[in-house]
Formats: sequence, C-alpha cells, structure tokens
Amino acid sequence: MMRTLLLPLVVSVVVMAAEAADLKATMEVVNNNANGFEGRFCFHLPQAIQGWELVIVFSSGVNNVGQWQGDWIEQHGSGECATHWTLVNKNYMGKQNAGDDLCVKVTGSVCGGGKPGGTATFVDLNDDHMHVPAAPKIAGAASMKYNYPDVLMKSILFYEAQRSGKLPHNNRITWRGDSALKDKGAGGEDLTGGWYDAGDNVKFNFPMAFSTTVLCWSLLEFPQAYSKTGQLDHMYDSIRWPLEYFIKCHTKPEEIYVQVGNGGLDHAQWTRPESMDQNRPAYKIDASSPGSDVSNEMAAAMACGSIAFKTKDPAFSRKLLTASKSVYAFAKKHQGIYSASVQDAAAYYQSSNYTDENNWGAAWLYKATNDNQYLADAKVRYAHEPAWGFSWDEKIAGNHLLMYSFTKDAAYKADIESTMTLWSKQGGMKYSPKCLAFRLQWGALRYSSNTAFFALMAAKQGIHAASYRQWAMCQINYALGDTGRSYVVGFGTNPPKRPHHRASSCPMMPIPCSWDAQQNPGPNPHTLYGSLVGGPGGSDDYTDSRIDYIHNEVACDYNAGFQGAVAALIQLAIDHELPNAAHCGQCPMP
Ligand SMILES: *[C@@H]1O[C@H](CO)[C@@H](O)[C@H](O)[C@H]1NC(C)=O
Repeated sequence: MMRTLLLPLVVSVVVMAAEAADLKATMEVVNNNANGFEGRFCFHLPQAIQGWELVIVFSSGVNNVGQWQGDWIEQHGSGECATHWTLVNKNYMGKQNAGDDLCVKVTGSVCGGGKPGGTATFVDLNDDHMHVPAAPKIAGAASMKYNYPDVLMKSILFYEAQRSGKLPHNNRITWRGDSALKDKGAGGEDLTGGWYDAGDNVKFNFPMAFSTTVLCWSLLEFPQAYSKTGQLDHMYDSIRWPLEYFIKCHTKPEEIYVQVGNGGLDHAQWTRPESMDQNRPAYKIDASSPGSDVSNEMAAAMACGSIAFKTKDPAFSRKLLTASKSVYAFAKKHQGIYSASVQDAAAYYQSSNYTDENNWGAAWLYKATNDNQYLADAKVRYAHEPAWGFSWDEKIAGNHLLMYSFTKDAAYKADIESTMTLWSKQGGMKYSPKCLAFRLQWGALRYSSNTAFFALMAAKQGIHAASYRQWAMCQINYALGDTGRSYVVGFGTNPPKRPHHRASSCPMMPIPCSWDAQQNPGPNPHTLYGSLVGGPGGSDDYTDSRIDYIHNEVACDYNAGFQGAVAALIQLAIDHELPNAAHCGQCPMP
C-alpha cells in the first residue's frame, strides 16, 4: 500500500525539484576490488533541509547495494541488477543545515564486473508545494475588520486535511494521500472514509457527526456566505465526505459502527495517517449495546444532509433520509449512552446524557420531513433549561433554536435568552481580561465559537439581534486577532505554527515520521490552513507549543460552530448589517 501511494509522489517531487536548483553529483570511487566497490556522492547544501531523497543512476546495473544514511524506496532496471536506485533519508539524517557538506556512501557490485560509475540527484523535500487559493472577495459587502471569506475558505481546507480513506483527484492538500484503506467492520464491511478526529488519527462518530450537523446547518442558513465567496461546491464536497461515511457505518438495521481506531494504540504512535501501521479496530453499537446519543447525532447529520442535497443531488438526498430514519428508529427503540457500550470512546468523548440528542435527532427529522410524529417526539424529549454550552456532547442550545423556529413558542425563546444570560458576566460566565467568554480550559475557543454561532442563529430569528450579533462577532474577532494574534493556523497576524496535529507536523512523505516530529522546536512543516486551535487560558495566556493538546490541538468539532459563525458574519456583511468591531474593546455582553 505504501509503495503504490509513494510512487506518483516521488515522481512529482522530482519533477518539481527539477524546476528549482537541483543538486547533482558524480560518484567518487573510494574503493574498488574483487568484493565490490565503495563510492560516495557529496553535496554542498545551500539551504537548510528537513528531509531529502537521493535518485542514483549507475552507469550499468548494480547489485548487493548497501548504504547507511537512508532507506531504499525504489529501484528499477533489470531484476537484481538495477541502474536506478532511490533512497530517502533515515530519520536522524534528515535535518541538515545550510552550508553543510553531505556525503552519502554507497557500496555494491557491478553486474558483470565492469567499472563502477554513476550520478545522483539530491532532492530537497522541504517544500510541500501547497498553494492556498487567494482570499475570496465579496462584491459590495460592508467592510470587515477581518477577512471572513478567507477564514471560511481556509476552514473548509482544514476539513479537507482531515480526510481519511481514498482521496479524490481534486484533493487540494498536497501533503495528504490515501490512508486507512483497510478500515472495516467485523463482517468485512467497508468503513473507509470520514474525518480524522483532531491531532490524532481515530475516527470518532460522535464529534464527527456533531461537526457535520453544525456545518450543514450553516449551509442551510447562510447559503450566500458560501456561494458569494465561491465556496459552495467546496462546501458540498466537505460535508459529503462524512455523510457518505455515516451511510457506510449503518451496516444493519440495528447495527452502527461509531468508532474506528483505538485511542490508546493510535496515541502511542506519532505519525501521519498514510504511515500508520497499528491495528485499527472498529467499534459498533447494536440492540444489546445501544447508543441513542451517537445514533441520534448521526440521524441529525444525515437529516440535515438530506435537506442540503435535495436539489443538488436528489438520489443522495433520498439515501441520506432513508438512513437517517432508520438510525433514528434504532435509537428510539434502544436507548443508552454509547460510551458505556463502546468503552474505548469513554476516555475521549464520553457522553453525559442522551436526552438532548434524542430531542435533536427528532427535531432534525421533523425539519427534513415535516412529519408531525417527529415533532411530537421532540417535544416530549425537550427539557426547559439553559445550555451550559453547545458542543459535541450537549445539543440543548441547538434544540432551543430548532424548536423555536418550528413553533415560535415563547417558552423556547425564553430558553434561548436564559442560555445567553448564563453566558453573560451577570450569569456567572468567566471572561478573560481581553473579553473571551471562558467556559473551559480545554478548547476554550471552541465553546465561545459554538455559542457565537448559537447567538447569530438566535439573532436571525429576531431575538435580541443587535446585542447578540455584537457579542458573537467580538468572540469570533477575539479568535481572529483582537488580542494581537490569530488563533487560526495560516490566517492573520502571528498565527499558531505548531498545532498539536500529527499529519501536518510530519515532514513530506516519504521521509519517516515519528516522535521527533512532535518534539521539533520549529513550525509544523505543513501549514494546516484554517484550523482553530484550542486557545488561551483564562488570562489570555497562550504558548504555541505542539505538545500542549489542551490549548494547541485542533479538532473537527472546534471548527464547526466557528465556521458557522463566520458564515453568519459574512451574511451580515453582505446585508450591510455587521456590528461595529470597535465596540469589542469594551467587552459587550449579550
Ligand atoms: C439528562 O437530561 C435530562 C434533561 O435535562 C435530565 O432530566 C436527566 O436527569 C439527565 N440524565 C442524567 C443521567 O444526567
């Protein structure tokens, strides 16, 4: 699998390097006797190197080759006696300083006993040739303090970088390749696809489905934010990726796979998805081990997807709705906490309650079908209470919004208001000195961004529009640069350069990748455009450290409400209704 993955990449890297200054060397023969020859290729390196490849062409076929600084990855020629040999540096040989002289020693025997000779091309693998598209512009929009269309475009790129499975031809992430192609269920069912969760390479359906639902919702509510920035097709492709995966995961009427990859095994390796070699078990729920939280969240995502794709791809839309109804029926019949059924999930995404998802799944199916049975289910399961914080675990805030949109019942509106009050200083929310609503140390920006999305959605329904929008925009602007730095990789002033993220921390394939990539004091070799990091502590304190997964990891669920809020702000810019960014300095409350 590695071999077929790497060959096209190697070829393209060689071609690209040929455009720049290639380093070439002729073999210097150090020794030549009856036992074989010893030669070396020496290069004077004009720039610092993170990793390299050597393409050697011998003047005639050579066998019994040996060398010490790398690993052979490719050879061609006739059988044992190949003329073309390619090697990639060993882990500890990758890094070289500008001005270094690097000599690669090679031994071998010339087939037929001729005179040894050859040339080698040194390929610098520093550059991933990732070209981020130019920031989209929206005609006629009111002035924005931050380039929201650029953030939106990059956030979609982030989800593209999280893709697992066989990548399509239009993949824009040059440093990603096919991965986890053997993910499958106990009966051999194909479970390839979906998104890697965060800085690791596990596929957790609970947060993946929440992220999909929220992103899809933002597309339903703010389509112009996507279309007027030229992102509509990218966005459809973006949510389609996990949606197709969810359909695969529903393997039997009462069986759903909800996780692929074991947390402990995955976290014990630090490598890119393309190089993983650990066992990746798949975990399911069924009638005897239920999980109505994760299944209702998947039902919600697919119900939303069925609405989003209704005219774009009617057949896919119908497939999603059928799967959504089936998953919902299973969840209704067999209730339970999924992380009690799948214990490996409990250490990472333990579900605290499924009542909120029972409501959420029913509400989304009502939105997709207009079938009153679903609305009746949703009403029965609704609990009038303020939301602690909209997140992968807690859908209470989302339920407020959906139920109010269906019924316009004042009781739901009061719940929306009580949630926003809980998020104000009077309501007890802690604010950092620079005005971040600080819900939790771990991934603080994800909670503030999710609630910003909630507030903008409430404003769209006419609830305290001016103050909710002002508050929400200030929370998003905090993440984008109001403290003097950006918390979004590859965007704005002084963005994070060392996110806790395996794939982007690894050097270019096929350079080996391990813990030294995690420990590397330099920036990640690849820019993980558009990813929101966990964020600062409660005093606006933050260090851009790769090992700090509390503050500097990225995750699918971190970007979901964030991207939705940015889409909402773009819509406000289009409508010339953007609040005044200067007011954020005074910490406006909702
Ligand atoms: C789950 O949430 C509902 C509604 O808020 C509540 O009535 C119930 O006690 C909760 N269950 C648990 C186990 O916390």
